[in-house]
Amino acid sequence: MEQELKALIIKQVQEAKDEVNSLGLSTLFAVDHQKVVGELKGLNMSEVLNLTQMEKVVVEISEDGKEILEKGSPEFKLVAELLKRGDKAVKKELDTAFGEKYVRLGFAAAIKSKWIEYDKPSDTITLKNKQVDMSKDETFNQLKKFTENPDPSSHSEELLKDYEKKRKFINRNKIKFYKVEKGPRFDQGLKKQEADLTTEMLSEMQAEMKEGKDWSKLFSFKKYNYLAEGKKINTGGLHPLLKVRTQFREILLELGFQEMPTNNFVESSFWNFDSLFQPQQHPARDSHDTFFLSNPRYCKVLDKDYFMRVKNMHQSGGQGSVGWQYVWSEEEATKNILRTHTTAVSARMLYKMAQDFKSTGVFTPRKWFSIDRVFRNESLDSTHLAEFHQIEGLIADYNLGLGELITTIEDFFCRFGIKKLKFKPAYNPYTEPSMEIFAWHEGFKKYVEIGNSGIFRPEMLLPMGLPEDVSVIAWGLSLERPTMIHYGYKNIRDLFGHEVNVNDTKKSSIYCININ
Ligand code: PHE
Repeated sequence: MEQELKALIIKQVQEAKDEVNSLGLSTLFAVDHQKVVGELKGLNMSEVLNLTQMEKVVVEISEDGKEILEKGSPEFKLVAELLKRGDKAVKKELDTAFGEKYVRLGFAAAIKSKWIEYDKPSDTITLKNKQVDMSKDETFNQLKKFTENPDPSSHSEELLKDYEKKRKFINRNKIKFYKVEKGPRFDQGLKKQEADLTTEMLSEMQAEMKEGKDWSKLFSFKKYNYLAEGKKINTGGLHPLLKVRTQFREILLELGFQEMPTNNFVESSFWNFDSLFQPQQHPARDSHDTFFLSNPRYCKVLDKDYFMRVKNMHQSGGQGSVGWQYVWSEEEATKNILRTHTTAVSARMLYKMAQDFKSTGVFTPRKWFSIDRVFRNESLDSTHLAEFHQIEGLIADYNLGLGELITTIEDFFCRFGIKKLKFKPAYNPYTEPSMEIFAWHEGFKKYVEIGNSGIFRPEMLLPMGLPEDVSVIAWGLSLERPTMIHYGYKNIRDLFGHEVNVNDTKKSSIYCININ
């Protein structure tokens, strides 16, 4: 069909004596104007045709006018209907058949011309004048004339005004169309437009050239359309959590932090709790909060000495502490769990640093971070899942205090655009002092909790064997919270898990956190 339309257009331009335009072509071939224009533009691109945009005013039939063209004018339709029904009809019945407004219009006009009479008590319309000439439906006939010849200059201004302004059956609208003329490559019009230049074509051209013929006319090439949209490539999309994680990682690396290895979801209770001086009766260690493994249920103890030092610190303390004063259970410490926080990894790293110190006699200050998944036995709702990601950071150095902790956290968050922070005293079994971190949320107009922090207790660090004047400042926060705030997620299940909409993932912007 397209090839056909193209050929028809070219033939018409070739043969027509008068000016050719898109509107004329559309009526001539009875093809939608837009379709003709599409075809013309293609031919214009390949320089077969030249197009000039034009404008003109045409008469268009309004919605009410179209109804008359379809059904006849209301008064004539009413008379025709009465004739059909034996000169009488109940008005209500006509209302349901033709629409109340349409009947009302015809009713008024027919009464005025004394064609009908109306009896109110019985709601009956009776035909009085049976001589109404149905072919004299002026309105219908005139509207038909307008469709046949939409050029306003062929109709009297008085008539146009009456139909447009008074009766609102027509509108005069400006429309755009194209004047069509032959282009520089008109003679190539029906030739296939090549999109690729092949070696075969080159040798054909060469042969033509050798024979002294005009090789340049042998093929007709499609012009490049630099504005054409490329093919949509269906790629994957980075999950918002991954984007935000990338940004957190970049900032922490910029600040000189090194990444801790977090590739173990299964952890022993020992590293997750005991090494952090978290007593065994602590409610967080209950199965209501923590997932315990049934197989393998227990872990091996590798450094028995350290294990015993932790036991003693819990039971009776030492080095200035009285400990927790209870009987520490080895069995409880060796239970395997899914780690409830990445502070378990921090504990392992600090222990390693202490081992290095023991073997070399030199303590090297370090800044560590990690971003990975943790698990808690939570009841699920729109802001809680049983697994989430934590961003953990720590600095181990000589004589660090609360001042360093606050400025480090401020510096860290400032780089995400989180500038208004508040610190609130809190409690953790493994840090003293401890502080919850709150950030001002411009959207919620309040401070929201974004993290927890503190200075690790000597009861945690000394059994590891770290030098006494080394202190460790640390903090942890959820990755989901800033991601939800940044991307406007109200329900965490839309962000993480099987209900995630893959399209949202593809559309989500490149990371850029700014919750202020
Ligand atoms: N482990 C804490 C939590 O899960 C965060 C934290 C890390 C607090 C380090 C203090 C120090 O919320």
